[in-house]
Amino acid sequence: MFDINKAVQELEQVHTSEQLESFFQTYLGKQGSLTLAFKDMASLSPEEKKEAGKVLSEAKTVIWSAYEAKEREISIQQINQQLQSDIVDISLEKEHIETGHYSLLAKVRREAEEICKSMGFVMEYGTDLVTKFENFESVNIPLSHPATEMQDTIYITEKDPRGESLILRTQTSSMQNYMIKKYGVPLRAVMPGKVYRYENMDATHDTMFYQLEWLVIDKDITIAHFKHIMDKLLEAILQTKVETRMRPGYFPFVEPGFEIDVRYEILDKATGEKHLSKWMEILGAGMIHPRVLELAGIDPKEYSGFAFWIGLSRLAAVRYGIKDIRYFTNGDLRFAKSF
Ligand code: PHE
Repeated sequence: MFDINKAVQELEQVHTSEQLESFFQTYLGKQGSLTLAFKDMASLSPEEKKEAGKVLSEAKTVIWSAYEAKEREISIQQINQQLQSDIVDISLEKEHIETGHYSLLAKVRREAEEICKSMGFVMEYGTDLVTKFENFESVNIPLSHPATEMQDTIYITEKDPRGESLILRTQTSSMQNYMIKKYGVPLRAVMPGKVYRYENMDATHDTMFYQLEWLVIDKDITIAHFKHIMDKLLEAILQTKVETRMRPGYFPFVEPGFEIDVRYEILDKATGEKHLSKWMEILGAGMIHPRVLELAGIDPKEYSGFAFWIGLSRLAAVRYGIKDIRYFTNGDLRFAKSF
């Protein structure tokens, strides 16, 4: 008699499609034992036929459904194996891939920008090409003024859409008029950006350099506000204790104007002791000239404010102890890679 249990047990041992095929041949194919068992029924007596028919057709149902379940199981297994072996591991690293990083100057600039934004300053870069009005006249430098000579720059032949001639800006102060008109008062603004000048290049001067300029306008703003905000900003940016002292200075768009000397705390890594650096002249500043406010449509009797700026390369040089600012832009990889 056909042994259904044996067939089911055998099927349980089947794990591959080859084994499944051979199981099929053994039981269900033309010469399979189940198929033959059905054929053999012909030689049985009617009584036996009835009995055997019942057993065999039950066996057929059980085995076929178990067979089909097995077939599905194996095909899912195969698909999964295929998916596994098709995986391309994109995380694998090739050797010697060089990844870039921000230049030291960009890093210091971005950190300073974040600090200013967190202190509620609006920020704009502006454009490198500006009108003579923006660069000079709007900040109280008539075109005949000697300061235009001091800040000589490149004059562009093409004109802007309004027909005004353009120059490469010599100072981020060229943004003051634009920022006041755009954002109105009260205003807390920071304008980082590239400026260009006719300069003899040396360790502390370059023909292109970055300025970081702040502009604050509100009612009743005094020099005390200015000093406090400047000190706080410098301490946040330089990440050390900072002292500032103010001397009179001249810039046409501020009155009074100041030159600011800065000294800061340095940690001597060898001894663990802190000491103060030498005084360094790295900032320019002043209370905004009434004329600058007027030119931007603000009543100087009602509002006052201050502006100050720092050379970004000087700032980075101070913070990282770099002696020559030309390293920032000359593309020397030994320098770039060491930060
Ligand atoms: N714009 C001036 C310069 O480049 C610097 C300055 C900015 C001075 C803001 C005072 C206030 O020389």
